[in-house]
Amino acid sequence: MHVSYEVPRLSVSGTALAAADVDLIIIPIAQDYAAAVASRDEGPLGDDLKSALERGEFGAKANEIYVARMPATGWTASRIVFVGGGPRAEINVERVRRMAISAAQVARSQRRARVGWADVEPGVISPAARIETVAESFVLANFDNGIHKSRDGHQFFIKDAVIFTSGDVAAAVTNGGAMGESINAARVLINEPGNYLTPRVLAEKAASLSSVPGLTAQILDEKQIEAMKMGLLLGVARGSIEPPRILVLKYLPAGAPANQTLGLVGKGITFDTGGLSLKPADGMERMKDDMAGGASVVAAMRSIALQQLPIRAIAVVPMTENMPGGKATKPGDIHTGASGLTVEINNTDAEGRLILGDGLWYARQLGATHLIDVATLTGAIVVGLGKITTGLFGTPQPWVDHIRVAADRAGEKVWQLPLFDDYKEQLKSEIADMLNSPGRPAGSITAAMFLKEFAGTGPWAHLDIAGTAWAEESKPWQPKGATGAMIRTLIEVARGGLP
Ligand code: BES
Ligand code: MN
Ligand code: ZN
Repeated sequence: MHVSYEVPRLSVSGTALAAADVDLIIIPIAQDYAAAVASRDEGPLGDDLKSALERGEFGAKANEIYVARMPATGWTASRIVFVGGGPRAEINVERVRRMAISAAQVARSQRRARVGWADVEPGVISPAARIETVAESFVLANFDNGIHKSRDGHQFFIKDAVIFTSGDVAAAVTNGGAMGESINAARVLINEPGNYLTPRVLAEKAASLSSVPGLTAQILDEKQIEAMKMGLLLGVARGSIEPPRILVLKYLPAGAPANQTLGLVGKGITFDTGGLSLKPADGMERMKDDMAGGASVVAAMRSIALQQLPIRAIAVVPMTENMPGGKATKPGDIHTGASGLTVEINNTDAEGRLILGDGLWYARQLGATHLIDVATLTGAIVVGLGKITTGLFGTPQPWVDHIRVAADRAGEKVWQLPLFDDYKEQLKSEIADMLNSPGRPAGSITAAMFLKEFAGTGPWAHLDIAGTAWAEESKPWQPKGATGAMIRTLIEVARGGLP
């Protein structure tokens, strides 16, 4: 049986590197300090590195790997792996994560169970951020997306990850481990196919992920959703034989400021066929990841609770399939959301904004003062920002800035797009309050403008992860499939407190 991931035992050691008792030790090297490190002549740190640099076998470029050929004489570790960092000035959180995961994959492929990280390269971030990232990375590296393979059963996971450093970093290791584990759990859900992960199954799995101290989970069924008159969510769910669900999570620690509550809302479409506005066959299989925003929100809440952050937070995840069944919404139909706004559905494939409309409204009802929604919302964001950068929208500007700064600390790329009032023209319907599909121009912006109508007053931001939630090709630091984008950013927002 394949398992999706294993959390290695994480620990810290102040032992000198030469005495590090592990099967493989990873040594990060900045490009512009490689020669200096080599000339220090500390056994293999000097000799092997020096010859590798001289022969041009290793240049310490970003994420470049050099496996020392010889067992290190005088060292306890049986194998040394150097990982390049590029110029020191570039070694930020994201770079450290990529370096650590890439090197940890070498350890896995060489079947080394006890792996060390030598904290010898400061980069340009704080020791706490660096160590937290390394701990998180060891957990992220221990991930395998082959759980549905019945053959080729061999898997290997790192059992022990030891960070060799002199600092007092126990809390950073614990937090990093918790973050990595939450992100892995979300990636498992996102990778699951639509036949296994229906709305009911997603709700159950997400609720069980949320069974950590201080966090409560509630699942609303179709009857309760009807009672709340959530016509937009119900309108999407009509085409499916599977009933919709809403997951509500609450984390309300005593002692947190009572007048502020972070509200996270995630898109939970377990499969998006487009509905009667059916998507083309090519690439439709990817639409099993259309619940990535919902999974991210659940993972962030889990990690916020595990880290006992002093902030009130709630989450709302509306969940449904978007299917073209006999009762499906037809183009031209009008549905009324819980907020009372009526929407003319001119394209059933613009379903995310519909379920989020009811979700955002409900989060405000539950007392959220500061909203963030996360959604694989538009193909247009992939055109604009590619698969590299998450689209960021929102108001007022200080709230958007708060999220941008958090993303930067988390080592995730976001870029803000505008919400000028003039775009609202496109949302006008002749026969209802709004149109759900306002045409091709500025498709990501008009989608965000639509959401804004349901976000009420008060800070709100929207993260469009349609490009960043899924990796189409595997990289040394990221297997093909779910990425877990924006989970760290949400956690950083919560850490920073609310403005
Ligand atoms: N889930 C899709 C967005 C998407 C597209 C995610 C590609 C990942 C990759 C969303 O529900 C959708 O279908 N959006 C439409 C909106 C349009 C009909 C206004 C789109 O982007 O084409
Ligand atoms: Mn769609
Ligand atoms: Zn969708």
